[in-house]
Amino acid sequence: MGPSGCGKSVLLKIVTGLIAPDEGEVVIDGENVTRTKGRTLDAIREHVGMIFQGNALFDSMDVGDNVAFAIKTIKGMTPEEIGRRVTEVLNMVKLGAIETKRIWELSGGMKKRVSIARAIIANPRILLTDDPTAGLDPVTSAAITDLLAADQKEIQ
Ligand SMILES: Nc1ncnc2c1ncn2[C@@H]1O[C@H](COP(=O)(O)OP(=O)(O)O)[C@@H](O)[C@H]1O
Ligand SMILES: [Mg+2]
Repeated sequence: MGPSGCGKSVLLKIVTGLIAPDEGEVVIDGENVTRTKGRTLDAIREHVGMIFQGNALFDSMDVGDNVAFAIKTIKGMTPEEIGRRVTEVLNMVKLGAIETKRIWELSGGMKKRVSIARAIIANPRILLTDDPTAGLDPVTSAAITDLLAADQKEIQ
């Protein structure tokens, strides 16, 4: 927690290995994220879900493909199984069947929910949320906070 510009986003990007710190290190489950690259880093990231401040959704893909992103490359999962899991996590974030919608058709609150669904689809052990209510109106902010608390309980 901290005021705007204090480095929350930078810290979370360092934790996920997206940027390298000038000093210090981050260790997750005994693995040094700050000195790791390639497959080892990918393996650590499999257990970490990240909800970006600006959502970082892919405009070129529809909602379903955005949400399925983390499990599409899992060997042995059929398209039907992937589709069912996408529906399941969309329900968890209280969104209906909006798989075929495009990202630009969504409101700010809906984008945040899609972003949460994408982050939790692969059952990460660690879920990082960067300023999840930034830029949202007070009512939507409260709804997103409640949703994260509810999902946290459900996932545990
Ligand atoms: N890659 C980077 N390396 C070092 N400093 C950075 C980097 N990206 C942003 N910063 C600096 O970090 C500060 C803001 O950090 P940020 O994490 O965006 O704040 P917030 O807490 O609002 O998320 C700014 O001073 C910015 O210039
Ligand atoms: Mg930030």
